[in-house]
Amino acid sequence: MRDQIHVCEDSEALALHARDWLVELIGRHPSEQTPFSIALSGGSTPKRLYQLLSELPAGTVDWNRVRLIWGDERNVPPSHAESNFRMVKENWLSHVPIPPENILAVPDPGGPPELAAENYERLLRERFGCPDQVPILDCVLLGMGDDVHTASLFPGTKALGERRRLVVANHVPKLDRWRITLTPPLINAARHVAFLISGVNKQSALSSLWHAPLDPEQFPSQLVRPAGGQLLFLVDQQALGDVPPPESSVVEVIGNWGSARNN
Ligand code: 6PG
Repeated sequence: MRDQIHVCEDSEALALHARDWLVELIGRHPSEQTPFSIALSGGSTPKRLYQLLSELPAGTVDWNRVRLIWGDERNVPPSHAESNFRMVKENWLSHVPIPPENILAVPDPGGPPELAAENYERLLRERFGCPDQVPILDCVLLGMGDDVHTASLFPGTKALGERRRLVVANHVPKLDRWRITLTPPLINAARHVAFLISGVNKQSALSSLWHAPLDPEQFPSQLVRPAGGQLLFLVDQQALGDVPPPESSVVEVIGNWGSARNN
């Protein structure tokens, strides 16, 4: 499946397009199947998307049919200012009726990170009914740092090499922090993986991701290669700049702000 790149005019257009894309994906999900599962990104880029999802007219999405997990979490309590759970709750979850049982947050994220990771993996395996197999998530939302990290898969860190576990604790020397993160095997098993990348400070990282020699130790986002699923880049023109999209990708300009550049 060819990578898709949707280019939006700015960060607001990116968030609006991401909302519409996600709502459409959820709407297409067969009602007889288990809830539509989404691994959420932390950081600042998706915040506006979460706000827009919280503002949807009642009934637009049957929130009973949505199950949320976190792509990564900081090693802090859920009430902490740096908590991804808190960010999602404040901008989205506290405004919509998603059943609590569908909100699968990292257990005790502020406790010992390895224990939190083990407990999260156990929870995911139990709730997705995958004692041994890798759960197939319907959607993984990812951000990307200007160092080409994604989730909490940072350059030069131990988690990059994980190929068996679904969730690990990962020490990030540059931040002097522990993180809990989904691993490449779980991310790459998903049906749809979407990067949300916004802002001029991401241009260099996007260029490395797409055009630097394959070197996931240095450019961790290169590890994201869904085995059978769709890989979508939702970018704004500030992040894209003059970075040429990969030859094999399908580029779509979203909205009438620029001439269509479909490959
Ligand atoms: C986190 C995220 C992380 C984030 C990138 C980009 O916990 O911070 O999961 O991977 O997506 O750091 O962050 P921004 O969107 O703030 O640039």
